[in-house]
Amino acid sequence: MNPALSQFGTQMSNLTGVRAIMKDIIETLRAGEGQDFINLSAGNPVILPEVEQLWRDCTAQLLASSEYGEVVCRYGSSQGYQPLIEAIANDFNQRYGLNLSDRNILITPGSQSIYFYATNAFGGYTSSGNLKQVVLPLSPDYTGYGGVSLTPEAVVAYKPTLDIDEKAHRFKYRPDFSQLRITEDTGCVIFSRPCNPTGNVLTQEEVKKIADLAASFEVPVLIDSAYAPPFPALNFTEMTPVFGSNIIHCMSLSKAGLPGERVGIAIGEPNLIGVLQSFQTNLCIHSPRYGQAIAARAIASGALADISTNIIRPYYAAKFDVVENTLDQSMPQELPWLLHRGEGAIFAWLWLQELPITDWELYQDLKKVGVIVVPGSTFFPGLREDWSHKHQCIRISLTASDEEIETGMQRLAKVVQSVYQRSASVIV
Ligand SMILES: Cc1ncc(COP(=O)(O)O)c(C=O)c1O
Repeated sequence: MNPALSQFGTQMSNLTGVRAIMKDIIETLRAGEGQDFINLSAGNPVILPEVEQLWRDCTAQLLASSEYGEVVCRYGSSQGYQPLIEAIANDFNQRYGLNLSDRNILITPGSQSIYFYATNAFGGYTSSGNLKQVVLPLSPDYTGYGGVSLTPEAVVAYKPTLDIDEKAHRFKYRPDFSQLRITEDTGCVIFSRPCNPTGNVLTQEEVKKIADLAASFEVPVLIDSAYAPPFPALNFTEMTPVFGSNIIHCMSLSKAGLPGERVGIAIGEPNLIGVLQSFQTNLCIHSPRYGQAIAARAIASGALADISTNIIRPYYAAKFDVVENTLDQSMPQELPWLLHRGEGAIFAWLWLQELPITDWELYQDLKKVGVIVVPGSTFFPGLREDWSHKHQCIRISLTASDEEIETGMQRLAKVVQSVYQRSASVIV
């Protein structure tokens, strides 16, 4: 059967961004059976023994408790499981001096769903036919923002400014406030902090400036904190979450070892949370409760925050060091390679200035030497203008072993060197 699809149906049945590349990667890994690929493309977190043990212990406690039947054998509130909401409110009130009540919190099936609700509730066409934009203030950013809006033309991203230290081969993106437009045509603003794919952490001042610009037009700002403290605390630089009346602070337990259970958390003013909650009720009634119940225990006991700072963060920070040190040793000094400052998340982001081939071609060349990375051009959702930079970057996952990362970076250095050399000899 081949039913006709609606406009939304066509759009939503397409793979967007990195999901399309992942299909190629899975096929490559399957076809190359026997060949040892170093896979530096994965976004799936590593199963760390201490983290797995925490979730096992919380599960054992849940199974042994009288709460079990109530958790899995009954429907619950669309806002979320009350003990989890209370655990988050208590933790955040204590940790950040807030005054949250349960009306400020919504639990969702993964944080990706928050972006789906928000981009379609606040962005898209209004009843009077005006297009409300979903503004991504700093591109590149999370590829998933490219697929969530039912009105793709609403998603608009802005080119950053580049803070370059050529000698050290390091750089950092910053929002370009001279270009960024947040107006009465803006429906909502979204960015990740720390950022997937770049590891960038917007400064407190940058975040406040964006939030203030948006506040003057009553525009909600979603701060995607999937890698932020207090859990999973994947920030390698000092950072504090920023709260405010138009900020929806969005969290995920996926990088804290629970991606399979799909637990997302939105924190914000009750009227904003209410809009998202109604969207969720219409979509799926509520989030599954098993994951919520074990998360409530891990958060209320303080164990999740402890494991995040003592186990999860150092693990990935050390991996970034391996990328950085190996590139410093093996990349030729005279080539214009620039590694984004590793401020957080589980990826490294490499920019090859004036790269003579595209990121996609480089991805193919790297596959030939057994290394798989993600071509960077998939991480610019909403940025429609031509910008050569979009085709000069790759994302390197920090989820492989030290040895794999080391070997992968050494092979990458050789391939990159030969790519630049080939093009130099063509020009001569
Ligand atoms: C920046 C960012 N936001 C959101 C998500 C989605 O996470 P979740 O598993 O909570 O839906 C991811 C997943 O990788 C991510 O990297």
